[in-house]
Amino acid sequence: MPPISSPPLGAILAVSGVTKSFGALRAVDNVSFAMAPGEILGIAGPNGSGKSTLFNAITRIPFDMDAGIVVFEGRQVQNLPAHRLAALGLARTFQRETVFPSLSAVDNVIVAIEQTKRGGSLRRNVLLAEQALDIVGFPATLHNWRAAALPVFLRKLVMIAGAIALDPKVLLLDEPASSLTPDEIDRLRALIRQLREMGLAILLIEHVLELLTGVSDRLMVLDQGRVIALGEPAQVVRDPQVVEAYLGVAP
Ligand SMILES: Nc1ncnc2c1ncn2[C@@H]1O[C@H](COP(=O)(O)OP(=O)(O)OP(=O)(O)O)[C@@H](O)[C@H]1O
Ligand SMILES: [Mg+2]
Repeated sequence: MPPISSPPLGAILAVSGVTKSFGALRAVDNVSFAMAPGEILGIAGPNGSGKSTLFNAITRIPFDMDAGIVVFEGRQVQNLPAHRLAALGLARTFQRETVFPSLSAVDNVIVAIEQTKRGGSLRRNVLLAEQALDIVGFPATLHNWRAAALPVFLRKLVMIAGAIALDPKVLLLDEPASSLTPDEIDRLRALIRQLREMGLAILLIEHVLELLTGVSDRLMVLDQGRVIALGEPAQVVRDPQVVEAYLGVAP
């Protein structure tokens, strides 16, 4: 079977020619891909290959791209402010933890809701936050615990709940499995599949390859800011260029 590198018809998200430089370093170099609604597109690549920078450039958090087009549901959105992108249905989590340690789990999610126009009265925001925490499987008994007192897995769930609370159509997850135990990775895998069942398309950056290849419909590999492979996961991880750039040894 040839690699599935062409954009799926009726893409929910299509990016074209995304480029971002830091001085002389071209961190993301002319990256293009498209996602079908409900698709999980995995992103792998060595440290520093531009994966997080790609998310940052697409979501405009915390910086803009130098060049490129982002089409969301058929409409160019690369010039919309970050909060508008989130309100349209493009939500993300961060590689570095972004929960507020002194706030409770539920207050952390409320803060995320208040940053977009989805927010309403406090009562409504509390309800939306509690629903989001329930969806990700965060224990109801811990809603009012300070984030600082929670184990890393639950803090990650709070961060994912903050994105889910925005009712996204596309969710961008940046290394959600880092620092997790094998059992927690199993729970994360189940959550990712559950979110897809709910209709979300998911763009998933991950170094835990077994998780990435297990849940992704297609896999994209970046190296030095460029897409070096895009296609069916089992095939992509066998691609000699991918093996050389990333895996180091033949799988
Ligand atoms: N704000 C910034 N200022 C300057 N250079 C940056 C900035 N953000 C990223 N870079 C550089 O851009 C390159 C790509 O970084 P990026 O964080 O996107 O890699 P990554 O693929 O996410 O890596 P990792 O797997 O380690 O998370 C790296 O060389 C990095 O040092
Ligand atoms: Mg990164």
